[in-house]
Amino acid sequence: MVLKGLRLLIIRYFKKRVKSFDLLLRLIYTAIMRRVIVVANQKGGVGKTTTVINLGASLASLGNRVALVDLDSQGALTASFGLDPYKINPSTTHLLLNNNLSLAHIIKRARTRLHIAPANSELLSAEYRILKQPNRTEKMRGAIERSKNEFDFVLIDTPPNLGLLTVNGLVAADELLIPVKTEYLAMRGVRPLLESVWLIRERINPGLKLLGVLPTMFNNNSVNASTVVKEMKKVFKNKMFHTVIPIDEAAAVAPAARQTLIDYKPNSPVARAYMRLAEEVSNAY
Ligand SMILES: Nc1ncnc2c1ncn2[C@@H]1O[C@H](COP(=O)(O)OP(=O)(O)OP(=O)(O)O)[C@@H](O)[C@H]1O
Ligand SMILES: [Mg+2]
Repeated sequence: MVLKGLRLLIIRYFKKRVKSFDLLLRLIYTAIMRRVIVVANQKGGVGKTTTVINLGASLASLGNRVALVDLDSQGALTASFGLDPYKINPSTTHLLLNNNLSLAHIIKRARTRLHIAPANSELLSAEYRILKQPNRTEKMRGAIERSKNEFDFVLIDTPPNLGLLTVNGLVAADELLIPVKTEYLAMRGVRPLLESVWLIRERINPGLKLLGVLPTMFNNNSVNASTVVKEMKKVFKNKMFHTVIPIDEAAAVAPAARQTLIDYKPNSPVARAYMRLAEEVSNAY
């Protein structure tokens, strides 16, 4: 909380007064920041989990301490690291059901500087069990806040709906990344998501900002995909990442091999795209 306040104060002070201090500002900001990024889109299969894994692995390879948090009871992120969502214990379920636990209680080391807070299949029932608790939307915020200084980046994967788990992710985060699959009608789901974000900003988490919209699974040979990207640029303007994630079989095969893309095929177009995204995210503020 204190760091967040300090960060905002520094940004406001320098932004108002000295534009050429941009670089200095970035250095100060990088030194004191701890960033919590939620990856959300209630549409299924748009690349949320793939983005959390590979943006996280790329940020770790740039020297950052990264925690990936699985808030999806399907446990795809968890399974991609070879952990069994039916057996894993403790998990994010414990963070929802206990008020004073921190991320550190459940975190597992996956790679150098890359950690995972796994999900187990009981997460869905946990969601129902906390439904009537007054602090039900702030469970994850507390758990992450208590461990925030141990990581440079915390990336949260959410399920394909706007239920309580996604809301917990949005309340816990400072920044929202929205992956959008570059296909016909792809942007249709973004509006309801943004409406929920505005409500959450108004009522619970005024600090939440849109980090960016990420075009995913882009097919270079499709005229339609190019049209969708152009449309997205028109709608989201400077909130659209420069990086476009290409469609690439390596992205679908790597999780089955229990590997991140940097491990599996570091020179594949999709692995390189996630590395560019990590650089963009590192430089954004
Ligand atoms: N760039 C890509 N190229 C090819 N396949 C991809 C790419 N990104 C993701 N995939 C594959 O597409 C499928 C959906 O991706 P992913 O699981 O990341 O989406 P999701 O939004 O997390 O889905 P859900 O909403 O079900 O959680 C997966 O099989 C994944 O391996
Ligand atoms: Mg997923």
